[in-house]
Amino acid sequence: MTTTVRTALDQPLLRPAELGGLQLPNRVVMAPTTRARAANEGLVPTELHATYYGQRAGAGLIITEGTWVSERAIGFVNVPGIYRKEQIDGWRRVTDSVHALGGRIVLQLWHAGAASHPDHHGGALPGGPSAINPHEMSFTPSGFQETVTPREMTAVDIELTIAEYAAAARNAREAGFDGVEIHAIGSFLIPQFLNPRLNHRTDGYGGDRVGRRRLLLEIIDVVAAPWDGRFVGVRLSPYWTAGDTFTADESTLADYDELVTELGDHPVAYLHLRGAEPATPGATPDFAAIDRFRRRFDGPLIANLGFDRESANAVIQAGIADAVSFATHYIANPDLVARFALGRELAIGDPATYYQGGAGGYTDYPMAAG
Ligand SMILES: Cc1cc2nc3c(=O)[nH]c(=O)nc-3n(C[C@H](O)[C@H](O)[C@H](O)COP(=O)(O)O)c2cc1C
Repeated sequence: MTTTVRTALDQPLLRPAELGGLQLPNRVVMAPTTRARAANEGLVPTELHATYYGQRAGAGLIITEGTWVSERAIGFVNVPGIYRKEQIDGWRRVTDSVHALGGRIVLQLWHAGAASHPDHHGGALPGGPSAINPHEMSFTPSGFQETVTPREMTAVDIELTIAEYAAAARNAREAGFDGVEIHAIGSFLIPQFLNPRLNHRTDGYGGDRVGRRRLLLEIIDVVAAPWDGRFVGVRLSPYWTAGDTFTADESTLADYDELVTELGDHPVAYLHLRGAEPATPGATPDFAAIDRFRRRFDGPLIANLGFDRESANAVIQAGIADAVSFATHYIANPDLVARFALGRELAIGDPATYYQGGAGGYTDYPMAAG
């Protein structure tokens, strides 16, 4: 009996690409996914992390889970950091594993800002752009809790935060990463500063669009320094909607138009764009929503949200994205590139195990059978 293996190696997704100095053998990117497996006092990545990321080394590029730049940045349980020696050593095991298996990996730098909870800070209030409750939920040691009204960050707090990002970028380099990505999506610190509903500051970090985007732009510049101005990606979510605080209205999108245009004047290796939510789950992503920003940014663009093999190939073929990132598909399909290449079925992950801890639902998703 002969078995016919149907391959489609000429897919746009499988072509090599260059992203700001990073050479990718394919355009299938592992999107950052918080998995809450650093269940130890020091928030140190473990052997389990090295196995998890090593299993996914076939990706054109791995972007790690969001990782705290400092203790003050914490806003979710069991998420690793990159601000202590033990954490750098732990991440070194991960980068060694991925590199030994032929992959590339960048570290996503995260700060929760006001989307945290006093329980993460020994009872102290988290800092935010202004003393305005973002009305989010924070995953604390005693479960999900509502956020509180934060402390308005002082000028010194902001200076310190920028310095913490710079140190985190140096540490990432020491840990053997190929670069870093700045987490500026959702409802966390950087989008809080970008958002006029949460940022009522009257100093140079608020007031108007220029002031509100200043924190992000200064962070980009300091984070790029240890990398000689290369290998720093930025992740944005202009269409993010949460309650009445984050709304993707015309004014928000105009803010992002200007911001994305200005990224061109800063050392940004790639723009990682979380697009608009599909109208119905499983619907083809809105390419025009991504193209709006593609037209404002000359560098490489990674598109995300709701893509499958077909839509990912189509968005690259259309010239709207250079690569596509996959989060939920990568959780359940460690060999996603091979499955795309061979036209195999994709496994479906179990959301109940996303943050539950341990190896179950983390390192035990199988490779596709021959
Ligand atoms: C379990 C889980 C954890 C996530 N953690 C992060 C994260 O740490 N950083 C980030 O930028 N996005 C995070 N995201 C968002 C994903 O990167 C991605 O934008 C989203 O899942 C949509 O992509 P998909 O349709 O390929 O799943 C997370 C998503 C999931 C499902």
